[in-house]
Amino acid sequence: MKTLTWEKNTLILLDQTKLPTQEEYLQCSSWRQVEEAIKVLAVRGAPAIGVAAAYAVVLAALELKKETDFRQKLVDVIITLDKARPTAVNLHWGLERMNQVIQEHRDASVETLIEALEDEAKFIYAEDVDVNKCIGRFGAEALIARIRKDKFTVLTHCNAGALATADIGTALGVIRNLHGKGRIANVFADETRPLLQGARLTATELQADKIPVTLITDNMAAWVMKTRQVDAVIVGADRITANGDTANKIGTYGVALAAKVHGIPFFVAAPISTFDLSMKSGEEIPIEERNHDEVRNIQGVQTALKNTPVFNPAFDVTPHEYITAIITQDGVIDHPDTLSIAEFFRNREE
Ligand code: MRU
Repeated sequence: MKTLTWEKNTLILLDQTKLPTQEEYLQCSSWRQVEEAIKVLAVRGAPAIGVAAAYAVVLAALELKKETDFRQKLVDVIITLDKARPTAVNLHWGLERMNQVIQEHRDASVETLIEALEDEAKFIYAEDVDVNKCIGRFGAEALIARIRKDKFTVLTHCNAGALATADIGTALGVIRNLHGKGRIANVFADETRPLLQGARLTATELQADKIPVTLITDNMAAWVMKTRQVDAVIVGADRITANGDTANKIGTYGVALAAKVHGIPFFVAAPISTFDLSMKSGEEIPIEERNHDEVRNIQGVQTALKNTPVFNPAFDVTPHEYITAIITQDGVIDHPDTLSIAEFFRNREE
C-alpha cells in the first residue's frame, strides 16, 4: 500500500476512507480532486496532507498554465487549499513552501516555474521520508533511555503512521524502530472515534508489519493503563505552539490526562514543520469541526436519530504540562515549555 505516489502528472492517493476492507486508489489529475481528498480524509495525517497539497499546486499550475494572470490564479488556489483543513499546520507549511517557489520565480517562464514547483513537491516528499527515519531513531533512543525495561507496551491514538506521512510515520515510526530492535511487547491502538483511524489504519498497518497490536475502544484506554502496565503513550501532532501545547486527534487530551494520573510518560512525535511558533499557546489553535453525521453514524450505519444534536471537534489540545517530551527529526525536547522550545530552536539554528 502506498499512501501517495506522483506519476506522469497525476497524484495517486490511497483512498483511506475505504480501508481496511478495500484497497482503492484515487487518480488525481486536478487540484480540486486533491482538495476534495483532503477534505473527506481520503488522504489525512498532518505530514501527508502537506505533501498532497504541494502536489495539488503542481496540478493547478499544469491546469492554469495557459490562463492570463497565471501566477495570481495559482496563489488563489494556494489560499483555497489552505482552508481545506484548518488545524494541521503542515498543510499551511507545505503550501507556503510552494508559494515561496512562485515568488522566487517571478521572472521565470511558466514552464520553468512548473518544473521548479514539481521539484519542490518532490523535495517535500523526500524530506518527509528522511524526517520519519530520524524521528524513529531519536524516539526509540528516548524511550530506551527513559524506560528501564527490555520490552515496552505502548499505547497510541489515531494514526501517525505510514498512512499519515511519506514513509514509516512519526509515532509509528518510533514504534517500528523499537520493534526492529526487538523492544516492543505490545501496542494498544485506540479505535479513535468518530472516524476510526486507530481501528481502520493503525491496527492494519501494525498487523501488516507483524508488530503485536491490541485494538481497544477509546473508553478503554484509562482502564488499560491501570491494568495492563502501559509503559508509554506515543502520539503524533497536528500543530505544536511555542509553549509546547499540542493539537492532535480528538481524544488525545483524555489519553494524556489518564497517562498523567497513572504516571505513564506521554511522548509526542512530530516533524519541525508541525511547530507553529507564531502561536504562543494552544488557545490560539483553530480546531476543525466536522460534519455532525460523522458522530450520528459509524461507517455509514446510523447509530443516533438523524436530528440528534451533535458536537464534533476533530482535534483537541494537550497542554504542555502533560507532555514528557516531544520527539523531532532534530532531537528530543524534554519537558516542553516556552523556554525549552525556544532553546531547542536557537540551538538548531547555530
Ligand atoms: O483527522 P486526521 O486523521 O488527519 O488526524 C490525524 C492525526 O491526528 C495524527 O495524529 C496527526 O496528523 C499526526 S500524523 C503523523
